[in-house]
Amino acid sequence: MNFESHWNKAFEKEDSQLGWFEENPAQTMQLVTSCNLEQDSRILTVGAGTTTLIDNLLDAGFQNIFANDLSTVALNKLKLRIQGTYQYDLTCIADDLTNPTKLKELKPVDLWIDRAVLHFFLKPEEQESYFNLLTTKVSQNGYALIAVFATNGAEKCCGLPLQRYSLEMLQEKLGKDFKLVDSFNYTFINPFGGERPYIYTLFKKA
Ligand SMILES: C[S@@+](CC[C@H](N)C(=O)[O-])C[C@H]1O[C@@H](n2cnc3c(N)ncnc32)[C@H](O)[C@@H]1O
Repeated sequence: MNFESHWNKAFEKEDSQLGWFEENPAQTMQLVTSCNLEQDSRILTVGAGTTTLIDNLLDAGFQNIFANDLSTVALNKLKLRIQGTYQYDLTCIADDLTNPTKLKELKPVDLWIDRAVLHFFLKPEEQESYFNLLTTKVSQNGYALIAVFATNGAEKCCGLPLQRYSLEMLQEKLGKDFKLVDSFNYTFINPFGGERPYIYTLFKKA
């Protein structure tokens, strides 16, 4: 399966017609706020798609934001919207989290944000690449915010099967250098009224 084409096709739809679209990423912003970061902190949103999180981060005064995705269709849409609304030149990095090349060149970040991305990686080697990248790219005292489908979550999203996670599974993958700061369950109601249970987690790299 060609995942890049799959995601590019998905992003041909209007944002509001995407099953994961959220107008207000309040749960993510709650955790971002609790990190007490400086406004020039480096924030990387992986698998960003066309997320409204970028708008919210800019509204909160953050100025050093990076957006990654496998889909160039999504990144082009996101960059144009952000340019138009904020006159902000968003740095977009088209790269595959399961086989990263450009992301490896990125200097460490103070905050890594993943909402609804990691759970698409089913193969052990894909998960290993993802966590290797995360653990090396988050700076000392930096944070990893991961929000993924919980163990009681849906089994598919965007037509793809998912690996669902518990807090313990995420802690094990991150390793003992990452200390849990906060975690909660949240049931996202998707644009079509479906209930999608997520687990939100925030870890700090010791
Ligand atoms: C369900 S969407 C979530 C988008 C965004 N995080 C949000 O909350 O609105 C999953 C995103 O992960 C991206 N993605 C999937 N596989 C990827 C990979 N291997 N590397 C980078 N991004 C990927 C997709 O293109 C899509 O934008």
